[in-house]
Amino acid sequence: MEAVAAPNRDVRVRAASPPGGRGEKSQPERQVYMDYNATTPLEPEVIQAVTEAMREAWGNPSSAYPAGRKAKDIINAARENLAKMIGGKPQDIIFTSGGTESNNLVIHSVVKHFHEIHTSKGGAAESHSPAEGAMPHFITCTVEHDSIRLPLEHLAKEHVAAVTFVPVSKVNGQAEVDDILAAVRPTTCLVTIMLANNETGVIMPVPEISQRVRALNQRRATAGLPLILLHTDAAQALGKRRVDVEDLGVDFLTIVGHKFYGPRIGALYVRGLSELTPLYPMLFGGGQERNFRPGTENTPMIAGLGKAAELVAENCEAYEAHMRDVRDYLEERLLAEFGKKRIHLNSQFPGSERLPNTCNFSIRGPQLQGRLVLAQCRMLLASVGAACHSDLGDRPSPVLLSCGIPFDVARNALRLSVGRSTTRADVELVVQDLKQAVAQLEGQA
Ligand SMILES: Cc1ncc(COP(=O)(O)O)c(C=O)c1O
Repeated sequence: MEAVAAPNRDVRVRAASPPGGRGEKSQPERQVYMDYNATTPLEPEVIQAVTEAMREAWGNPSSAYPAGRKAKDIINAARENLAKMIGGKPQDIIFTSGGTESNNLVIHSVVKHFHEIHTSKGGAAESHSPAEGAMPHFITCTVEHDSIRLPLEHLAKEHVAAVTFVPVSKVNGQAEVDDILAAVRPTTCLVTIMLANNETGVIMPVPEISQRVRALNQRRATAGLPLILLHTDAAQALGKRRVDVEDLGVDFLTIVGHKFYGPRIGALYVRGLSELTPLYPMLFGGGQERNFRPGTENTPMIAGLGKAAELVAENCEAYEAHMRDVRDYLEERLLAEFGKKRIHLNSQFPGSERLPNTCNFSIRGPQLQGRLVLAQCRMLLASVGAACHSDLGDRPSPVLLSCGIPFDVARNALRLSVGRSTTRADVELVVQDLKQAVAQLEGQA
């Protein structure tokens, strides 16, 4: 089924030379990209928006003459499209260089805010927990992206913040609401939980966390304790399922263009920016983005991000239905070709929703480590986990281990993620490719 009438953007590489020369490994006729959680190609409409802006809106957006005003208009239109995609207000969107910056901006801003209120209120949080001093406390979970985990670990190491990494449930792969609430301290100032995990696709219970945190905040306000803000990294969810900041009830939300067929920049949503939710800049400069993120705006990339957001706002349901169909077909075909005993579906947890495009699975067998299988594949382009963990060697993904996947199974894991133009025919090619790779590794080919 091809629900989305989009041109085929998958990598289709013709062999540079004819396959099958004597003693040579035969060249692939074509390749099938199934690594859309790592990055996505640009939609043709996005390329067009970027190109037009490069050509026609090169003026400095801060300039008052027409070339500058045109650039400013493009930026404002893009801001509106981003806001529409997530059900927020345009004035609550700040453009950034990408997800890593957005995540760091939230964390560093909250540290600063904690110290501001601590100084102005004379240390209400400290008086409840003198042993901790005036250190802000963060709550996150063990399967977050490195752009959350590493800044928090860094702050903890430098004694700038205290951090609780809540383990995810080994039953459903989620960070559980009760565990998060149990970790709250008087000094807690931010809960940051991703909306969807990049390796398993598991959707985290962000609306439930938000409801519980809001109720708790009412009690904290009367006790003079700092309010707990809620952030979600929506990098993997956008463009794959509906994302609405009102339903989620979050104060901050991270947007990453290159995960939804947009360019490599991003944005940060901040609810009621500076009126309801404080934001302190990491950079200081020329006043752009209302001083929250100064630096002359990257108009062409912002134009492309706006177009990518517009496409998501208009077509998200169709994208989701198509990806789900192809991903489910992939899992069906894997089970049919290899047998239920050989395939372990690592991302199917009872009671958890997951992204429609992600299939994390292992083919059981002593010689079938994920990396070895991928290296034997002739057509399939995929990964064994997050791109930022590609230096792990043969060690299994810490994310899968956290989710309770046994060591030997996790070591064989492959993460296949389908996109808007992946077809059932691609799935057939990939399953046959995997079969020949396994036969090679088991010495039968
Ligand atoms: C969940 C998640 N958050 C953040 C990022 C980082 O985004 P960027 O590559 O724009 O820095 C990624 C990208 O891999 C991601 O998957």
